[in-house]
Amino acid sequence: MYLIKLIYASRCKNNLNDKVIDDILASASRYNSAKGISGMLCYDTNFFLQCLEGSRRTVNELYSRILHDPRHESPVILQYEVISVRDFSEWEMAYVELTEDNKEKLYKFGLTDVFDPYSLSGDSANQLLISLKHDL
Ligand SMILES: Cc1cc2nc3c(=O)[nH]c(=O)nc-3n(C[C@H](O)[C@H](O)[C@H](O)COP(=O)(O)O)c2cc1C
Repeated sequence: MYLIKLIYASRCKNNLNDKVIDDILASASRYNSAKGISGMLCYDTNFFLQCLEGSRRTVNELYSRILHDPRHESPVILQYEVISVRDFSEWEMAYVELTEDNKEKLYKFGLTDVFDPYSLSGDSANQLLISLKHDL
């Protein structure tokens, strides 16, 4: 079985609140654990950055579901590659909200203090998520 890592960025729709995030994480908890998917979701008020890890088929199927979700728009794949080891194996979907406390990390990965994941390379996006993981 190939293990795949897919990282994408998307823009949140305007009316997002904590309940929306809770609902997404509840879906992830049900679905991802049943399908052997791990990953991490990063959010600030404007954007999502998400990493999905699992078999090629399950990652592709989940990404297709997520693509059509009306809670976000303009998804762009930043990285899609075969991996030998998962980086987020402990979580069906780890979650980090960008706040003033962790925004200083953005500079290291080529961003200003404005979180715009569309401007990240796939590798920078991956390294940023791994770096944020260490704060969990
Ligand atoms: C940014 C974003 C990330 C999401 N991540 C996941 C995920 O990791 N796993 C998942 O099952 N659904 C995820 N969803 C929700 C799916 O798009 C979809 O609503 C869900 O799979 C429907 O399943 P449910 O009927 O069990 O709630 C995400 C949605 C958004 C907007």
